[in-house]
Amino acid sequence: MENQEVQQEFYSMPRIGDQAPDFTASTTKGQVTLSDFAKDKWIVFFSHPADFTPVCTTEMSGFAQRKKEFDDLNTELLGLSIDSIHAHLGWVSNVKEKTGVYFDFPIIADLDMSVSKKYGMLQPNEAETAAVRAVFFIDPKKKIRLVMYYPLNVGRNMDEILRALKALQVSDQHKVALPLDWKPGDQVIVPPPKTLDEMDKRNKETGIDRIDFYLSKKDLKV
Ligand code: BEZ
Repeated sequence: MENQEVQQEFYSMPRIGDQAPDFTASTTKGQVTLSDFAKDKWIVFFSHPADFTPVCTTEMSGFAQRKKEFDDLNTELLGLSIDSIHAHLGWVSNVKEKTGVYFDFPIIADLDMSVSKKYGMLQPNEAETAAVRAVFFIDPKKKIRLVMYYPLNVGRNMDEILRALKALQVSDQHKVALPLDWKPGDQVIVPPPKTLDEMDKRNKETGIDRIDFYLSKKDLKV
């Protein structure tokens, strides 16, 4: 039983809708406490398995090269791996020297795995001592809004990370849901009616694309 509890603590995963677990950690930009970090902004918090490895280098370079798009979405990037701060500094300088790409966002040095454990980034049947490729989308109230987990051998998709972030923000701002493959400019889903009266109203509504009372789409006026 005790062993089970330890396992649960070690491998528990925050879920969508949970408050993001707080932590203080050393990063390439100094100490970061999540609850004080990026006030009034979104955070895309992501892990990678190890410094000086190929897939991770392409992913971190992708975040760095598209940082302006995250800035434009009022979002701070925060990386993590179970490596030392010295390894991080060496890797950041090496990538800059070799490719000109600079990782201009904090990367947590989580050698004691304290943050990785809190975020379920250690998935023991994939790797015991390296974080998998996780992405947590954290809103300005520090609530977890979307979670992705990828294995060690498959890199993430930066277009999808940015699309999902934009979709969360549009959904919050306009109180709409977003259909399959939604991208900015596409129609959005009007919330379905919850009562018979609302359903009657919806059936008479004009200016929307109504397939049936439970599935209607509209253009977004922005
Ligand atoms: C990589 O980033 O290439 C990688 C890292 C850890 C394990 C496997 C691949």
